[in-house]
Amino acid sequence: MLFWLASKAQAQSSYLPVQASDVAESYDTLFNFLTVVSIIAFVVLMGGMIYFIFKYRRRSDNDKTAYISHNHALEFLWSFIPLVVFLGVFYWGWKVYEKTRINVPGAIEVNVLGEKWTWTMEYNTGKKTLNELTIPIGKPVRLIMRSKDVLHSFFVPSFRVKQDVVPGYISKLNFTATKVGRYRIFCAEYCGTGHSGMMGWVNVVEEYEYEDWVNELAAKSPVASGEEIYKARCAVCHTTDGNKMVGPSFKGVFGRETVLEDGSTVRADENYLRESILNPNAKVVKGYVKGQMPLFQGTLEEEQVTH
Ligand code: CUA
Repeated sequence: MLFWLASKAQAQSSYLPVQASDVAESYDTLFNFLTVVSIIAFVVLMGGMIYFIFKYRRRSDNDKTAYISHNHALEFLWSFIPLVVFLGVFYWGWKVYEKTRINVPGAIEVNVLGEKWTWTMEYNTGKKTLNELTIPIGKPVRLIMRSKDVLHSFFVPSFRVKQDVVPGYISKLNFTATKVGRYRIFCAEYCGTGHSGMMGWVNVVEEYEYEDWVNELAAKSPVASGEEIYKARCAVCHTTDGNKMVGPSFKGVFGRETVLEDGSTVRADENYLRESILNPNAKVVKGYVKGQMPLFQGTLEEEQVTH
C-alpha cells in the first residue's frame, strides 16, 4: 500500500525538478515514501489525540483519572514497530547514498574547484571551463572536488546530488546523467556576499558531442575569453551598464580619471586595472568599501588578467 502510494506520488512528482541522473529516481521514491509515512503518522497521532480529548474528557467535578502504571505489550509495540520502520528507512537511505559514493572503474573524472564565487571545471584533456560542467549522457562521471577558500556546496537539484567542498580536503561525487539537457548548479553553503550568484550549469550531451567538445582546445580571441572571465568572476559585483553594485560599474572605466577614497586621482589604465584585480585594496574608488573584493592574486592566470 505504502509503496503503491509512493509510486503514485512518484508518477506525479511534477513538484520536483526533472530527474536527470541515475540516483534521482531512487532518491525521489525514498523521499515520497517518507512524505507518505509522515502524513499517515501525523493523521494517526493528531486524529487519535483529538478523539481521546473528547472520549476521555472530564465529565463532572469528581471524575477521577483511572490509575494506569504501564502496559508491557503496548510499550513493546510502540518501540519495536518504529524501530523496524526507522532501520528500514536507514538501510534504504544508505543504499541510495552509497550509489554516489562508489567509484565506478573507468568513470570520466572532472576536477571541480570551488572558490568565491565560481566553479572551475578541469578535464583530463587540459580543458578548463568556468561554471559549466559538460558531461556525456549514460556514462559514469566522478567529480573530484576541492575548495580554494571557504566551504561551498556543489548542488545539482535535477541530479539529486549535493556535496560540500572543503578547504584542505578532496571530496568526491559519482553519478551518471540520464537525460540530455541543461541543468542548474547551485552553491548550497553560505559563502559570503556572492553566494547566491555562485551558480553554474551542467550540460548533458550525447557521447560523440562530448568527445569532440572535450578534445577541442579552440583558441579564443582575448575579447571573447575576457568576456567569459567577466561573466564568471566579476559580474556578481560589477555591472557593465553603469549601475552600482558591491563594486563600481565597468562602464567607461578604461582610461578614465578616477577619484580614490583618499581624494587623489588616478588614470584607470592597464596597470591600475591590473593592480585592482590582483590587489583590489591598494587603491579603492571613493564611495566603496575596502576589503569587499577578493584578492585575485594567485587565482587568475597572468593570461586571464591580460584578457
Ligand atoms: Cu559558494 Cu555559497
